[in-house]
Amino acid sequence: MSSVIHCGKYDVHVGPDMFRELEKFLARRQVFGNVVLLVDRNTRQHALPLIRERVPSLQDAPFIDVEAGERSKSIDTCTHIWNRLTEIRADRQSLLLNLGGGMICDVGGFAASVFLRGIDFIHVPTTLLSMVDSSVGGKTGINFGGFKNQIGTFTRPAAVFISPAWLRTLPDRELHSGFAEMLKHALISSREKWDALSQTSALKDMDWIPAIQDSVLMKNRIVHADFRDRHVRRTLNFGHTVGHALESYSLLHDADPLRHGEAVALGMICELYLSWKLCGLPEEILTELAAVIRRLVPAPVAPVDPEAILGIMKSDKKNAGDRIRPVLLQDIGRPVINHPVPGELVLEALGFMTRIAGEAALNS
Ligand SMILES: NC(=O)c1ccc[n+]([C@@H]2O[C@H](COP(=O)([O-])OP(=O)(O)OC[C@H]3O[C@@H](n4cnc5c(N)ncnc54)[C@H](O)[C@@H]3O)[C@@H](O)[C@H]2O)c1
Ligand SMILES: [Zn+2]
Repeated sequence: MSSVIHCGKYDVHVGPDMFRELEKFLARRQVFGNVVLLVDRNTRQHALPLIRERVPSLQDAPFIDVEAGERSKSIDTCTHIWNRLTEIRADRQSLLLNLGGGMICDVGGFAASVFLRGIDFIHVPTTLLSMVDSSVGGKTGINFGGFKNQIGTFTRPAAVFISPAWLRTLPDRELHSGFAEMLKHALISSREKWDALSQTSALKDMDWIPAIQDSVLMKNRIVHADFRDRHVRRTLNFGHTVGHALESYSLLHDADPLRHGEAVALGMICELYLSWKLCGLPEEILTELAAVIRRLVPAPVAPVDPEAILGIMKSDKKNAGDRIRPVLLQDIGRPVINHPVPGELVLEALGFMTRIAGEAALNS
């Protein structure tokens, strides 16, 4: 059985029956001209054959494929998608089905949201991160000029279909990366949610359906209150001010860059440190949370140039003015948005994070 979460104007279907729900959805909306699938190299191999087998109307649907990885969340990929949609003769009634992780959902959603002034798209997320976070909430986008999500739109998908079946082929590192966003949802929600999630011993033993539903509900509640990201939705950015800078830096410098969720996990440790310094987060809670985050999201920490990371944060136009304004926590479940932070403290926080990561690596 699948359950349905109503996210305002679209539904999120979660459960093993999602293939049947998808087939029903496509049959109901026969106005769609052609349905076009968007995949990356990995989901072409691991997800495309199964979806075509389980959803008969997709058997002959054309597909567009792109390179895997965050570097494909780019304007070049959009050009490729728009060229292929034009070749396929997609029209205003066409539907783009994004079959992949957050990269595919973000770039596919953006490309669809402006092609012919906007065609419908749906998400079939295949990573944990895209199931609990990027497929829900209607943010689309690409990276540009060295900054994350610099260009994008607020456009809701027509529907989302989630099945944990895809997680079987997902590499461990990607699973942990997705778990970082689940931890974030819990941290900004309540002590009860945090305690439930942080007791997880091994991700492979998780009962995924209720955990994914819970995380989607937490995100949806916040998005529903502030779709355009003007106030409370910004709390979802916890860990991301520092996290995005670490991710952008890593994309430029590392052969095997940090995954998004890994960067967010490291960013959360830094922003917890800042919360302790500036917002009254008790020190023992900082220690507890940092240890749990390292245990459940053991991101590799390559040497970074802290001044360069700070420079990326300062020039990120998403920070109002030239002050860095991350989300901080007064306590679990008590986020504060737009808290100005001096640059020297950010450098201190990066030092703290590097130390914690080093200690965790020694103890593992
Ligand atoms: N729009 C939003 O609200 C929002 C929210 C959170 C994150 N994001 C974005 O999401 C992106 C990160 O998403 P992600 O972590 O899913 O990355 P991703 O899409 O790059 O996927 C990670 C890797 O897993 C592979 N993969 C996907 N599904 C697979 C499967 N079932 N089996 C085997 N391999 C599989 C992919 O090919 C890729 O190599 C970032 O760009 C981030 O900015 C967006
Ligand atoms: Zn994120």
